[in-house]
Amino acid sequence: MNKNKDFKWGVTISAAQTEGAYKKDGKGISIWDTFTQKKHKIKDRSDARVATDFYHRYKKDIDLAVNIGLQIFRFSISWPRILPDGSGKVNPKGIEFYNKVIDYCLQSGIEPWVTTYHWDLPQKLQDKGGWCNREIIDWYTTYVTILRDNYAHKVKKWILINEGVVCIGGGYFLGVHAPGKRGIDNFISGVHHILLAQAEGFKVLKQIKGLEVGTALSCTKIEPYRNTNADKKAVNRIDALMNRLFIEPHLGMGYPVDDLPILKRIAKYYKEEDLETLKTNFDFWGIQTYTKQVVKSAWYIPYLRVIQVKPEKRGVETSVMGWETYPEGTQYFLERFSKYNPEKPLWLSECGIALSHNEDDQKRIDYYKKVIDLTQNAISKGVDVKGILLWTLVDNFEWAEGYLPKFGIISLDRNTLQRQMKKSAIWLKKYLEE
Ligand code: NOJ
Repeated sequence: MNKNKDFKWGVTISAAQTEGAYKKDGKGISIWDTFTQKKHKIKDRSDARVATDFYHRYKKDIDLAVNIGLQIFRFSISWPRILPDGSGKVNPKGIEFYNKVIDYCLQSGIEPWVTTYHWDLPQKLQDKGGWCNREIIDWYTTYVTILRDNYAHKVKKWILINEGVVCIGGGYFLGVHAPGKRGIDNFISGVHHILLAQAEGFKVLKQIKGLEVGTALSCTKIEPYRNTNADKKAVNRIDALMNRLFIEPHLGMGYPVDDLPILKRIAKYYKEEDLETLKTNFDFWGIQTYTKQVVKSAWYIPYLRVIQVKPEKRGVETSVMGWETYPEGTQYFLERFSKYNPEKPLWLSECGIALSHNEDDQKRIDYYKKVIDLTQNAISKGVDVKGILLWTLVDNFEWAEGYLPKFGIISLDRNTLQRQMKKSAIWLKKYLEE
């Protein structure tokens, strides 16, 4: 890749996957703290009570990121650390912790980016319905106002909701993520409320001049199993769900109901003014893509009438996540999103590959080299790509997969909590120095 000095490299982490200290200094319980206690829900029966202990080791991790040559440190704020009950009383120790993280970034010369919500809802709010309760728009707006008032003078780049479709899809439709709810109505109301909340959060942050505020989108290329009309329509349904649902309503395009008629049920939760409220002129969009899915039409599956043809069934190798590795999605989505109106600057706000503990880290280097080339292809076609944030720095708690997938460029000894640079970290450091 031609080194352009304006092109930036950074790393993304999230609170629930790294911080640990799950009850320390006044933090409230999150839905993930609760969910991980149902041991059968997590593949290795682990939890994130300690995780990578970022809470106590943030300086070490920021030092590592700086040493590798990264310029951006994107982390998320734990809502229940700031507001243990979700609303009401603010926890001063929580405010202080993120001040320390931000200040250490600034003094180390790495730019802090804040994600306001990376899936760790306060349990107290879930007890009132969580994202299915429309009141959450106010709860979230108040929370974002507190973040703005405490940090916006120091943090210039903000991401509101991280991968809303995975958060609501996994947590409220499939039940595989916290809070483990299922059902189409939970999903549809959750989607509508989180999008409205994000739109209101945007307005709160944009009251401060000079902030750049975006969203981070999960993107998965969807392909048909057979070359039939039925399968192509199935692709359109899943594509609308996974790749359009979290951007088009913000662009004033409404929900993609034509391709995904089940979304008509949103009417039940819809107020007249919502279409207008949803419109959000983000300063940038974050693209996060890891895999692709091949699907076929299946009349017997409720609501979506689609099933995924798993990679194993197609004779395709998978990563420890069970995903087909698909770096090509990078170029595909960068080009695709650049065609929306208005065109926005794009970031790869996460990007990486999961390996198991015994796989050669060279695979990660090869993966990143491909991503670099594919990003370069998109840039040469005129797409405005600003930079790449790696997922992730240190191997961490990968949600329902526990600690089995290793996404980090730095390994973690879970007994001693020592970190060690992997081959890929050393390679990246060299690449960034050249
Ligand atoms: C997306 C999510 O934002 C992050 O939390 C997760 O660990 C990675 N992708 C890998 O699955």
